[in-house]
Amino acid sequence: MRGKHCTRPPEGLREFFGIYSVAPQMFALFERLPRVARSDASVLIRGETGTGKELVAHAVHSLSARGKGSFQAINCATLTAELLASELFGHVRGAFTGAIRDRPGLFRQAHHGSIFLDEIAEMPLEIQARLLRVLQERNFVPLGGTDSVDVDVRVISATHRSLREESRLHRFREDLMYRVRVVPLFLPPLAERTGDVEALMWHFIDQFAAQGQRRIERVERAVLDALLAYPWPGNVRELRNAVEYACAIGEGPDYVEGDLTPELRGEPPPRVISPEPSTSGGPAAEGEAAERARIVEALRRTGGRKGEAAQLLGVDRSTLWRKLRELKIR
Ligand SMILES: Nc1ncnc2c1ncn2[C@@H]1O[C@H](COP(=O)(O)OP(=O)(O)OP(=O)(O)O)[C@@H](O)[C@H]1O
Ligand SMILES: [Mg+2]
Repeated sequence: MRGKHCTRPPEGLREFFGIYSVAPQMFALFERLPRVARSDASVLIRGETGTGKELVAHAVHSLSARGKGSFQAINCATLTAELLASELFGHVRGAFTGAIRDRPGLFRQAHHGSIFLDEIAEMPLEIQARLLRVLQERNFVPLGGTDSVDVDVRVISATHRSLREESRLHRFREDLMYRVRVVPLFLPPLAERTGDVEALMWHFIDQFAAQGQRRIERVERAVLDALLAYPWPGNVRELRNAVEYACAIGEGPDYVEGDLTPELRGEPPPRVISPEPSTSGGPAAEGEAAERARIVEALRRTGGRKGEAAQLLGVDRSTLWRKLRELKIR
């Protein structure tokens, strides 16, 4: 049935602590989270930007016995080493220029709660050493202080990188990696979540309508095709923005091609490598370079694990093996 417009997909959208999905991969995660939350084990959430890492971190905290305690979040990529240390571990007055009064630090504020270390791969090495000590000894000394402070904090971290790869490159301490990654959770990219592009498009359409914005009732087939073909590097956040863009610039009940963002109207490189064996002439040099770049990037992101890289590329393992041979990637 390929009419000009498409109607809503069948029911089946589930919500879990603000995370919406129709995809079996995500349902499996929803089922795992309550069990993960039960323990105090450190959790590492891995996923590309906009995949919902912060939502998952919140869910783990809320589901845990610490749910009523405090949840303190910090982005490790945005502060200098000194500021990050003082944010995390606090300082006493006079510890450094500008430290005009005592500051408790997030670890103390998160006592009996959880701390969320976002972009943990970017944490400077000297702070990694301090964090390791806190995780091992469950206490720390604030900057410029003399007395150690005991804390009971659950650590939840997130990263878009492979910590194993970062540790191989000596940018992340291996001992700390094992401490923060007791329970690893992987958030698949939006493009790999079966059915989610369409379902979440409708979800965001409804959300904006409920907020009194444009009320979209029908979606042109060409629009849906464009959304389904797009690789979504910004994942769910980017999809939400695309729908918000349509609500802001378009009007009327029909979501038409003119309401698409420039990226969606352009022709981005496909994220999926072709599953058919290449024909005699081989792919055009340009296509080959793009394909090579995508494969190398997938291997980098998965720390060289071919099974995971194949998943990321949306092909099966044997296809990836063949491509690696053809393109002489090692
Ligand atoms: N499955 C989902 N359903 C509904 N909204 C979602 C979903 N996943 C993410 N979002 C929304 O997308 C935005 C990005 O999510 P979030 O901040 O959790 O992603 P992130 O992985 O932490 O991204 P970044 O790495 O850029 O910090 C938020 O507005 C969030 O509410
Ligand atoms: Mg985030």
